[in-house]
Amino acid sequence: MEHEFWHQRWETNAISFHEGRVNAALERQFERLALAPGTTIFVPLCGKAVDMRWLRDRGHTVLGVELSRVAVRDFFNENAMTYYEEEVGPFVRVSGDGVALLCGDFFELTRDHLADVGAVYDRASLVALPANMRRRYVAHLLSIVPRAAPMFTVTFEYREHEMDGPPFSVSESEVRARFGSERHIELLESREIIDEAPGLRERGLSELHEHAFLVASWDR
Ligand SMILES: C[S@@+](CC[C@H](N)C(=O)[O-])C[C@H]1O[C@@H](n2cnc3c(N)ncnc32)[C@H](O)[C@@H]1O
Repeated sequence: MEHEFWHQRWETNAISFHEGRVNAALERQFERLALAPGTTIFVPLCGKAVDMRWLRDRGHTVLGVELSRVAVRDFFNENAMTYYEEEVGPFVRVSGDGVALLCGDFFELTRDHLADVGAVYDRASLVALPANMRRRYVAHLLSIVPRAAPMFTVTFEYREHEMDGPPFSVSESEVRARFGSERHIELLESREIIDEAPGLRERGLSELHEHAFLVASWDR
């Protein structure tokens, strides 16, 4: 999707993707990542997900990237966290209280930005992007995230003839195909969540499945 599409969603508060509470699969399955205390967790396309505060409260450091300045400032303000803004190359880095959010384009991130990252929490990034961009997204993610870092990845799947994205439908087989032989994929849980998404039911969906995956290097 074009940047303007997302800026407009934030400026008009059309953010039905924002859960406003900790993701249930994250709460249930997070321990499976078996992270050391103080791990830096990268959250791509982070929005203002409260999951970031939850991760921080578990003793980790959070590094997010998000296009929208509205989302980034809302995150800090709504969680009553003080923050400091500085320009860092093509990004504005907004940070405070164990969370740093890089405001700018995910595709401008380099390995250097993520050198300290020890894990990834990725909810609803793949489903935010059309198929051709999903290919680019995964290629870029794999090129910048340290190889040893496990990823907790959440996607949605639905009958594609019922609705046009976003959110786009991303199945288990697509996740396996996109990460290919680069990573080991484990489906941690799948849940029917259409009752929690009345807006998508109105758009025509009869079913909506949320999948949570552990994506890790083979030698982990
Ligand atoms: C579907 S939302 C998911 C937000 C968040 N992960 C959550 O679970 O609430 C996708 C987010 O990605 C952001 N985004 C889209 N393209 C981006 C890009 N190229 N770089 C950084 N952020 C982007 C949008 O502004 C939006 O907040």
